[in-house]
Amino acid sequence: MSIRLNVIDRQGKETAIDIEEGTTIRDAIVDRLSPDNYGLCLGNCLCGTCHVHVASNDFEKLEAKEEDEIDILKTLDVKLSTYSRLGCQIKLKKEYSNITVTIAPD
Ligand code: FES
Repeated sequence: MSIRLNVIDRQGKETAIDIEEGTTIRDAIVDRLSPDNYGLCLGNCLCGTCHVHVASNDFEKLEAKEEDEIDILKTLDVKLSTYSRLGCQIKLKKEYSNITVTIAPD
């Protein structure tokens, strides 16, 4: 089953990505949009470059952050929002279909 993910890139352009269930947001974005300096640690929850802002009304659908993700978000030298998440820590599943995320500034 494929899941739809709407991604707003750093230029403000929105792209709908249809991708296999179980793919992380980071992998979906790298696979289809390959933005510069995004997802650099390959999804190992080390770099924080996969930072996205989840649309406010979609945020509550997601499973809560685990310790590792919280720790990395805290170390980021960027502005976090209430809706900040690491794309590599969110696996897409059908309950998440049609959520929208914005890639955080580089
Ligand atoms: S890809 Fe590095 S923390 Fe997500």
